[in-house]
Amino acid sequence: MNRMSHAEIETKNLCDVVTHALGRAAKRPEVTSFFDEPTNTASHVVRGPTSGRCAVIDSVLDYDAASGRTATKSADKLIAFIREQGLEVEWILETHVHADHLSAAPYIKEKLGGALGIGENIRVVQDVFGKVFNAGTEFQRDGSQFDHLFIDGECFTIGDLDAVALHTPGHTPACMTYVIGDAAFVGDTLFMPDYGTARADFPGGDARTLYHSARRVLSLPGATRLFLCHDYKAPGRSEFRWETTVAAERAHNVHIHDGVSEDEFVGMRTARDAQLGMPKLILPSVQVNMRAGKFPPAEGDGQTYLKIPLNQL
Ligand SMILES: [Fe+2]
Repeated sequence: MNRMSHAEIETKNLCDVVTHALGRAAKRPEVTSFFDEPTNTASHVVRGPTSGRCAVIDSVLDYDAASGRTATKSADKLIAFIREQGLEVEWILETHVHADHLSAAPYIKEKLGGALGIGENIRVVQDVFGKVFNAGTEFQRDGSQFDHLFIDGECFTIGDLDAVALHTPGHTPACMTYVIGDAAFVGDTLFMPDYGTARADFPGGDARTLYHSARRVLSLPGATRLFLCHDYKAPGRSEFRWETTVAAERAHNVHIHDGVSEDEFVGMRTARDAQLGMPKLILPSVQVNMRAGKFPPAEGDGQTYLKIPLNQL
């Protein structure tokens, strides 16, 4: 009798979710995306064609770094859409602890409900950045700020849509890809084919790990739709785009198309990352996002502050 390894079983289940959805319209999500130009972030509302239930993936809280002022204009657009459509929010999902924008997850949850989920390795990220920000004992590093911590290969549903959470580390240790019907929400694991992949040099990031995660996503059926968290317009392209397919990435991704070896990728990624400055909102973003989008506790004067650790990153 042939026995399948755990990895083979998992890949089979994943591909089943996608191929089943490719063959049945009722299992294919409708995706409405909202692009935030100041942070180049695409947020997605994912719904089944029939159930009226949805998930919100990677929402944005507006933040003006000069004034330290937050705003909910972007999140309010998303909330208005969900209300207009009469949808019920089942999940508010984060693909990872973002370093370039603040999450609006707590605000959306307060307005619309839904369970807030992220990958279980959030604990690793909380441990690393808890130290970076000297967060003290008030800051729990067990992921308890979230409603649900997904493990690799975990199945879940959004109304009548089938979904699988896939651990795709490399950009950060907690990065997840959410495969929902025939669509995969890859966070920062892949960018558009003409732009490549995300950096892997944040604390806990690793280019070799990113290679394996990206190849794992690219082992899904070629027709799988991929929805990205960011776009920066590649040179020569005049529009922002955040949707592609596995087949397009395998044929054309400038960093990781079929035929690029692990060592070639790691060499390219490491050299490129060495040239990059830190994202301008990394310190406010991570400080808030490691707390599931909540602000640090107010100080004695009732005011909330963010810290700037000097000479750490
Ligand atoms: Fe990111």
